[in-house]
Amino acid sequence: LAQCNNKSLTTVEGLGKIDSLHKIQESFKNNHGLQCGFCTPGILFSALELSSKKNIKKEKDIRDFLDGNLCRCTGYHNIIKAIKNYLKEKDI
Ligand code: FES
Repeated sequence: LAQCNNKSLTTVEGLGKIDSLHKIQESFKNNHGLQCGFCTPGILFSALELSSKKNIKKEKDIRDFLDGNLCRCTGYHNIIKAIKNYLKEKDI
């Protein structure tokens, strides 16, 4: 928390609104990529960071990028699908 001093911080509540979701949230919703309240925000922000990278060519690139998000309950299939869809819509 001390490292955030004098910096701005966006939480998932600031990402989109219930009636105007962020595109990454829309993609997770449309692809049933939703997990628990701990996992979903972390994965959403990881996906946004990933979308700023170049050279994301393969599903393995997405899976490798998400390896710090450890969910105990999922196979990640729909999450990967949601991120792929988002990247495709962004034309990355
Ligand atoms: Fe959060 Fe699995 S959905 S721990």
